[in-house]
Amino acid sequence: MRLDVQQLGKRFENGRWGLREVSLALEGPGFTVVSGPNGSGKTLLARHILGLERPDEGRVLLDGADIHTDLREARRRIAFVFQEPEHQILGMTVDEDVAWTPSRLGWPKARVQASRERALQLTGLEGRGWEPTAFLSGGEKRRLAIAAVLVAEPEMIILDEPFNDLDWPGVKTLLSILLDLHHQGIALLVITHDLEKCLAHADRLVVMNHGSIAADGPVREIWDRLPELGLRRPGPLCGTLEGMTWLS
Ligand SMILES: Nc1ncnc2c1ncn2[C@@H]1O[C@H](COP(=O)(O)OP(=O)(O)OP(=O)(O)O)[C@@H](O)[C@H]1O
Ligand SMILES: [Mg+2]
Repeated sequence: MRLDVQQLGKRFENGRWGLREVSLALEGPGFTVVSGPNGSGKTLLARHILGLERPDEGRVLLDGADIHTDLREARRRIAFVFQEPEHQILGMTVDEDVAWTPSRLGWPKARVQASRERALQLTGLEGRGWEPTAFLSGGEKRRLAIAAVLVAEPEMIILDEPFNDLDWPGVKTLLSILLDLHHQGIALLVITHDLEKCLAHADRLVVMNHGSIAADGPVREIWDRLPELGLRRPGPLCGTLEGMTWLS
């Protein structure tokens, strides 16, 4: 799979540019982290990749074809896990929620069943299909949101701030799920401020600022420049009691 974001520009009604000349090529099963200050355009970029927004300039190509030519297939191949899992949980029970997407794909029952079981197992929700979604904890809801997109067998998953509201075990569980998916050949695009929670696993870092790309490359090449890009790099106190804070 190849995704080409070409010279993307988005201008709001108030005349402000939300995205300006954003170009990005993603190919194969990479683990890309997208970071940058609040309001820098990360979610807006994801919305364009999903075809949820129409750009004013440029385009997004999936294997060479404009994303808008077959949005349904593009959204099957590229999944999006929203910042708030509540926004995408539609079923009353876990099973019902995970069945939602494949029911619209017109797949044979056996394929739906196999894909569903695999998704629940990968996200540690096997055997919990009967549970009401309203009773799930925040971390469980996030895993359900991932399971619900996995059933469509996407080639890429975009996750918007997936570590929000997760405690330490929750982050560890989520990270191991993401690494599992990555090893299975699914491309990951993780939008996050929490670099210290996941950057070690990424192969590429994209930093956005004021609607443009401020840096893009292998993590090791950008690592030294994090502070000048406005991102916190864990200091020398990391690993000491004084370093045990996300305040500094
Ligand atoms: N429809 C709109 N009209 C005007 N401004 C908008 C609209 N949609 C988004 N914006 C602005 O575009 C900018 C980029 O928003 P975006 O949600 O992409 O930021 P972000 O990088 O995801 O930030 P955060 O880290 O806070 O999630 C913000 O300043 C936002 O207010
Ligand atoms: Mg955002």
